[in-house]
Amino acid sequence: IYLIFFVGLNWKMNGDKKSLGDLITTLNKANLHEETDVVCGVPAVYLDFVRSNLRARIGVAAQNCYKVAKGAFTGEISPAMIKDCDVEWVILGHSERRHVFGESDELIGQKVAHAQESDLGGIACIGEKLEEREAGTTEEVVYAQTQAIADNVKDWRNVVLAYEPVWAIGTGKTASPEQAQEMHEKLREWIRANVSEAVGDHIRIIYGGSVTGANCKELASEHDVDGFLVGGASLKPEFVDIINALV
Ligand code: G3H
Repeated sequence: IYLIFFVGLNWKMNGDKKSLGDLITTLNKANLHEETDVVCGVPAVYLDFVRSNLRARIGVAAQNCYKVAKGAFTGEISPAMIKDCDVEWVILGHSERRHVFGESDELIGQKVAHAQESDLGGIACIGEKLEEREAGTTEEVVYAQTQAIADNVKDWRNVVLAYEPVWAIGTGKTASPEQAQEMHEKLREWIRANVSEAVGDHIRIIYGGSVTGANCKELASEHDVDGFLVGGASLKPEFVDIINALV
C-alpha cells in the first residue's frame, strides 16, 4: 500500500508573533517533499495569524477543541470557530490533554465525534505511560484509547492516528525504530480487524516522541511509520529535515 507521509509540527504552548513569524518564514521558503502533508499545531490565539501568513500548501491545526459548537463553556473553542479561521485540523487526545488536564477516553471520543460532524480533520493521539509499558499493558491501553476514538469516527479519510508513547515525549528517549514499527503494525492490524481492512490499509499512523533531525530518517524507513508528530524539534530549523525524512 502506498501512504502519503504526514508531519505535524506541534508548537504546543510556545512562541509569540515574532518567533512564530520566523517559523512561518522558514516554512514558506522551504522545499517540502511533495508527497508529505505538513500541518502546524498552533496555540488557539494564533490560529488566525498563522493561517493568514502561512502558504496554503501547509495546513494548520488547533491543539484542542470542545465537544459542542457554542455555549457557556468559558475558555473553550469549538470546531466551528476553528473552521471560521480557515483552519482545517485539530489535534485531539494529546498526552498532555490526557495527563496534565485529565481528559478521559470518553471526553476525547465526544470531541472526535463533534470534530467529525464539523468536517474538521483530526490528529487523534494515543500512547501508553512508562508504568503501563513496564507492566506489559501497552496494547490494552492503546487499543482502549483507539476504540474510544474509533467509536466516534464516521469518515476515516479525515483522521490521522498519532502513536505517542508518553515516556518518549519531551524526554529525549525516542522509541527505537523497531519499537515504533511493532506498535504501528499492531495498531494497523487492530484497525483492520475492528474497523475495516480498507481503513487499516489506508490510515496514516504517525509517530511522536523525541523525533529529531538526527533520528527521523531511520524511523521513517519503517514500513508502518507514516509520518511524525513533532514537539520540541518543531521549534528548531531541523524541522525541515524531519518534514523531508522520506527523501
Ligand atoms: O505532539 C508532539 C509530541 O508530544 C512529541 O513531543 O517531540 O517534544 O517529544 P516531543
